[in-house]
Amino acid sequence: MSADTATAPPDNTDSHPSGDDRFEFLDKAMRRARYSQDQLIEVLHVAQEVFGYLSEDVLLYVARGLRLPPSRVYGVATFYHLFTFDPPGDHAATVCTGTACFVKGADAVVDALAREYRVVPGATTEDGRFTLKTARCLGSCGMAPVVVIDGEVRGNVQSDAAVTEVAARLATTAAGDGQEES
Ligand code: FES
Repeated sequence: MSADTATAPPDNTDSHPSGDDRFEFLDKAMRRARYSQDQLIEVLHVAQEVFGYLSEDVLLYVARGLRLPPSRVYGVATFYHLFTFDPPGDHAATVCTGTACFVKGADAVVDALAREYRVVPGATTEDGRFTLKTARCLGSCGMAPVVVIDGEVRGNVQSDAAVTEVAARLATTAAGDGQEES
């Protein structure tokens, strides 16, 4: 990388052709990073926060903005487990499989959710209703096993309780439209 390419504005900071305003946040993040290729991971973090996942379109946009080969951006993004490449489901459960949670039975929780919703960890059900994820230590080992359901942390979670809470969450939204049931 030369000093020139580190700070020179790229040629794609105009509105995204899709008209999706979220790309403006991405533009700002790249501008804040001074288009430094060394800031790729930071920019990808912002992209995932803004879009919820890293689509091919977003990865290409970042590659172009930071003037990196798409293969490098894909390579870095896929290397880190914290990035996801599929749109999240209407509801999501993240089971911590760090050591403390593993010892307290996190695997059984993962298995129960996977069996109940017929989805492998890291994937979303075919109907797009539920995403099952796993994570390394979530920093709440004293509450192991820990599961984050729709962004809310649950501690000392057993398999049945996890399945029951996910079912309750799914019941609050109608299949297909994500709307509250009346
Ligand atoms: S290992 Fe699960 S919260 Fe630390």
